[in-house]
Amino acid sequence: MLKKVDITGLYKKKESGEKISMLTAYDCPTAQLLDEVGVDTILVGDSLSNVILGYKDTIPVTMDEMIHHTKAVARGVSRAMVIGDMPFMSFNISVEESIRNAGRFLKEGNAEAVKLEGGGTMAETVNRIVKAGIPVVGHLGLTPQTANMLGGYKVQGNTTDSALRILNDAMLLQDAGIFMLVLECVPGQLAAIISKKLRVPVIGIGAGVECDGQVLVINDILGIRSGFTPKFVKKYADCDSIIRKAVSDYIKDVTNGGFPDKEHSFDMPKQEMEKLRKLLISSE
Ligand code: KIV
Repeated sequence: MLKKVDITGLYKKKESGEKISMLTAYDCPTAQLLDEVGVDTILVGDSLSNVILGYKDTIPVTMDEMIHHTKAVARGVSRAMVIGDMPFMSFNISVEESIRNAGRFLKEGNAEAVKLEGGGTMAETVNRIVKAGIPVVGHLGLTPQTANMLGGYKVQGNTTDSALRILNDAMLLQDAGIFMLVLECVPGQLAAIISKKLRVPVIGIGAGVECDGQVLVINDILGIRSGFTPKFVKKYADCDSIIRKAVSDYIKDVTNGGFPDKEHSFDMPKQEMEKLRKLLISSE
């Protein structure tokens, strides 16, 4: 029986150099599978918005939608740490509202921590959420909620100035109390420097191999309607083809009467069937 993942365990992994695995999940059965297989942390990402709910990006997803899916994920998990992703505008208006929304992930969603995007300007918010007793994961580099401000979905920190800005933001977030940092789409060399400098574990996505752990979107690794595949995604399965084949076989079977067969149907006991037949004939 694997031990429940907690912050101390994650710090121990960083210290010993054992890598931390993180994947997104948005529903209970997927979360159950990831938990059983032994993933360390499950992120109910705001990628819920585009990956599952069909919105065009991560901007429209609401707190209520995030909580609904976080609850479902948490119901399926007994070992992994469940982290709820704070959606756009749920932590940007006031510190009080940010604490209230972060609290909802724990009270209603049964998550154990929250993640939020942003650098030094979010330090006070992070600090107040942490002081309220809610563990926080930071997110730097390519931050999809503010992609418009970053000039689109592209690698961040590939100049000296922007690399220093990200490093400085990482230090500010650590001082503010984050227990882990997600670093998205930055050069591997910069991620390696930040991972070495920080006391807290750094989880990379498109940030090279020298981070303390890695995260990817579950639909991307499984090849489920993942559409455009960024360079940093490794597809471990092609579930689209598996699903297409299964569904088209089912349609064929239904259409030609091949399903349901004897094996998938119920029979009435012979005498009961005989009785019923007689009753029906006599009542005609
Ligand atoms: O929403 C998300 O899926 C994320 C990632 C880091 C994968 O934030």
